[in-house]
Amino acid sequence: MDEEIAPDSWYATSRRIDQVMDAAPASEPARSKDSRKRHVELVSVDEDVLDELVKVATSDAAPDEVTPPLGDSWNPRRVAWLRAYHRHRRSGLKGGEEETAAIRVDGRIVGAIRLHRSDSEAPESLEYGIWLARSWRGLGLGATVLRLIVRRAYELGALRLIARTTASNSPAIATLRRAGATLQQRGDGTVHAEIPLDGEHR
Ligand SMILES: CC(C)(COP(=O)(O)OP(=O)(O)OC[C@H]1O[C@@H](n2cnc3c(N)ncnc32)[C@H](O)[C@@H]1OP(=O)(O)O)[C@@H](O)C(=O)NCCC(=O)NCCS
Repeated sequence: MDEEIAPDSWYATSRRIDQVMDAAPASEPARSKDSRKRHVELVSVDEDVLDELVKVATSDAAPDEVTPPLGDSWNPRRVAWLRAYHRHRRSGLKGGEEETAAIRVDGRIVGAIRLHRSDSEAPESLEYGIWLARSWRGLGLGATVLRLIVRRAYELGALRLIARTTASNSPAIATLRRAGATLQQRGDGTVHAEIPLDGEHR
């Protein structure tokens, strides 16, 4: 994630992506917080969603999981960065190099994702990032959201979904493996993952 602060002019360029990113709740895992099937979707980060996202990030996620290192704790600079980051990306991948979406479960915002054209020499590849609120981790939600990300990347014409994580991030590695990713450990302790996209993701 970068540190740029968005100009106000980006505010008007919001677009809705929830229509195409609605999840099929039928595949929800049995270990959800209760036995009810949950409705998981990716939604555009408009101002109301952004307010909710900031609340959940600052109360239920570590600052460095959500923003670049910008000082101790959830200070005003971090919050300003987070707001600007999402506002600046409202034109999406068609108008820029990155799009973001909030993760909504049964109407509650619980985290966010991003899709990013990280390699100009491989425009058919999209890289993703994700963070979930602490209280929503370990329940199978990451796997469900990854299926939505895969579907969205496929809709955007990508042939390959990329992720970068660290070898110590067991939940991220397990989620990627489960999704059929090829994993490659690098000498610096990072792991590069690739998921090929094909028609099966429709
Ligand atoms: C990484 C993250 C998105 C995973 O989502 P999640 O909902 O917590 O993961 P899930 O509950 O779907 O579990 C996925 C797998 O990880 C395993 N897992 C979960 N927590 C684990 C832990 N603490 N240690 C080891 N494995 C773990 C689960 O057993 C599951 O494996 P399985 O499919 O083989 O059963 C989430 O933990 C998160 O937001 N972490 C903080 C931010 C982050 O690290 N982002 C990823 C950067 S690439």
